[in-house]
This record gives sequence, C-alpha cells and structure tokens, in this order.
Amino acid sequence: MTPTQAQDRGTHPQMVQVWNLKKGFRRRGGEHVTAVNDVTLAIPAGQLVVLLGPSGCGKTTLLRCIAGLEHPDAGRIEIDGKCVFDSDEGIRLAPEHRAVSMMFQSYALWPHMTAYKNVEYAVKARGFSGDVEARVVKALTQVGIPHLRDQYPSAMSGGQQQRVALARSLAVDPPVVLFDEPLSNVDAKVRDQLRQELVAMQRAIRFAGVYVTHDQLEAMQLADRMAIMENGRIVQIDAPMSVYRHPASRYVACFVGQANEIEATVAQAGPGGRVLLDTPFGRLAAAMDGGASPAVGAKACLVVRPEDVKPVQASVPPGHNVVHGTVQVAMFSGAHVEYRVRAAQGLLHVRSDNRAILAEGDAVSLAFDPAAVHVFPEAGR
Ligand SMILES: Nc1ncnc2c1ncn2[C@@H]1O[C@H](COP(=O)(O)OP(=O)(O)OP(=O)(O)O)[C@@H](O)[C@H]1O
Ligand SMILES: [Mg+2]
Repeated sequence: MTPTQAQDRGTHPQMVQVWNLKKGFRRRGGEHVTAVNDVTLAIPAGQLVVLLGPSGCGKTTLLRCIAGLEHPDAGRIEIDGKCVFDSDEGIRLAPEHRAVSMMFQSYALWPHMTAYKNVEYAVKARGFSGDVEARVVKALTQVGIPHLRDQYPSAMSGGQQQRVALARSLAVDPPVVLFDEPLSNVDAKVRDQLRQELVAMQRAIRFAGVYVTHDQLEAMQLADRMAIMENGRIVQIDAPMSVYRHPASRYVACFVGQANEIEATVAQAGPGGRVLLDTPFGRLAAAMDGGASPAVGAKACLVVRPEDVKPVQASVPPGHNVVHGTVQVAMFSGAHVEYRVRAAQGLLHVRSDNRAILAEGDAVSLAFDPAAVHVFPEAGR
C-alpha cells in the first residue's frame, strides 16, 4: 500500500483502489445512516466495474467519495497510484486534482453554450493546451455527433445531450470515468444504442470505470465485474456470469435476474452434496455447489431461475426434479414465453422458448436439474 506519485496511465496495475471506505450521514432528526460501510475495491486500467443495488444502498455515495464530492469518514483512496484521500494521514484532494471524469444522470450541460463550447470548456478547465479544437472535434466524433457542434442543448434530444456529456467526459483523456446512471433519462431504444457504443468506446479508450445503475440488464451487459451492494457494503463482486450462476446469497440471487424463491425444509442430506428438501412442490433435490450440507430439519430457501425450469413432454433427464401443474398465466414475450404454473401448493415462474406454446389451463410437467437449484439458509436474506 505504498503511495506513489506516478501519473502516467498504465504505470499502476490498479487505476482505482479503495480501502475500508466509510461514509455516514446524519439525517434531519438526528438519525445516522451508514451509506458506505467498509468498502474495499480495486479496478485495473481498462476495466469497467458496475455498482448494482437497490435504491439507497450507497452506490452514488461511493462514487461521489471517489470523485472527491463527499468527504468519507474513514479509509483510503488511490487513483492511478496517487493517494487522493486518506483519513489517517489527513489527505484529501479536491475533485479537480483527481484524475477522474464524471457523468451523471442529468446531463448537466451549460445551457448557454453550444455542444462544442460545452466540451471545450471542460478541456480548458483541465488545463489542456495544444490543439484544443482537434481534441473537441475528436470527442464529438467519437460519440457520433460532429454535426451537432453548433447546437445548443435546448435544441437537442435527451440522447444527443447525453452524447455531449459523454464527449465532455472523454475529451480530457481521463484514466478513470465515473458514471452515475447516465442512461436512465433516455428512452429505451437510445439507451440500448448508447450502451453498446459506450462498451465499444470503453474497450477502445481503455479507461477504468465505475458505473452505477439499478438496471440489472444494463449491469450485466456493461460490466467486466459487477459489484452487488447491500446496505453500504459490496456483498459480491465478480464477472456478471459468475454472479448470475453462483450468487453468494439469497439477496444476490434474487436481485440479479429473475428467481423463484421456494421455502424448504431439509429432509435428507445425501452423499456428494445432494440434498433432498420438502417444499410446496413436493420433495425436490438440490446439488450443493460447495460448502457444508445443511442439517436435516433446517429451514432453507431455494432459488431456481425461470429459464432453468423446462416444460417436458415425454422423457425427463435422469435425476431431474419433476413437478406437475397447470398453466395459470401465459405471456408471449417475443423470443420467449413467460408462464405462471400452479403446481401442488405453489406457483412457479417458468420461461420457455417460443416453439411449442402452452395455453392457459394446459396441464404441464416441468423438469429442472438439481444443479440449477441454489440452496440458501433461511436467515441469509
Ligand atoms: N446528503 C445526504 N444526507 C443525508 N443522507 C444521505 C445523503 N446522501 C445520501 N444519503 C443517504 O445515504 C444512503 C445512500 O444513498 P445513495 O444516494 O448513495 O444511494 P443510491 O444507492 O445511489 O440510491 P439510488 O439508486 O436511489 O440513487 C441513503 O440512505 C440516503 O438517504
Ligand atoms: Mg444514486
């Protein structure tokens, strides 16, 4: 943890390093809220980490602490190897002295400046000399709006304004870019397009990024690593596919992706990590992926993804769980169909392809692999 003063991009394996960061607020009325609670995080150059979590879990506060817009209570932050905050050493650099750019949900453009002037202002404020015009035009071109250079924000759509904001962030060649829900104000189609362009730009420019969203699809599509936050803490950080397939807790399993949550009691803990559980759907098998088997009689929560529950016609793969039920709701959703199936004492959410579509009232047999059943302790929520 030796601080160095090197400023060149890429000289440090980690572009952003946060150690044991804490930030609390006192609300009006005296109540204390711990918004960021002992967060430690390291982001190498060229990597985008997405902070995902429900409203109020501390995403924006963590981002603002890194940017220098909040004063943390404790911890240490280094950006590109340079210490910008340390509570023990009394170091606290102002935002303009941190090598970060920030992009917000509100575009925060100057209304009296054209697209060009907005970007130019940011470039000059960062002290760039040389060919400023070439730099501004390059940024506007990168985000696909060179033709809007002389337009004012009031004459632009939300998506176009957000492109100006993006150009402004990228024009200063930031080693680190912080995004706080930058796409949540633009419509769905523009959002998809901007998201893809953002990924392409991030790969090309290779800045390290922290991206805040509570849109799980956006998080999975953008992230190199996804950090799931709960009450100010990062409770799991990993590649999106790993978080999705191996959620560390019931909270993560249910926050990322769709989930059937099934209350269960352990009936038998067999060899090889295979566990039998009594549920509202009858007795189900689960294959524990690591960890100790739960004790017989213990309460548990099972999580099964809707796409892992498959309608079956004749043969069921050996060892799979089978549940018989009736389709209560069928919702055609384009590439797939969503079903709610009433079975025994419960209701299962099923997502299936659109080839053989079942109708409401149809009898159906559903099968799912014990390996697709995640078992969490009942108290682990
Ligand atoms: N300036 C402040 N004064 C008092 N409390 C605050 C302040 N800023 C944030 N908080 C509280 O800190 C907690 C975390 O807030 P934060 O804005 O970081 O959440 P968030 O995850 O970004 O939520 P959202 O998804 O709604 O944007 C919340 O309980 C919030 O009420
Ligand atoms: Mg926020």
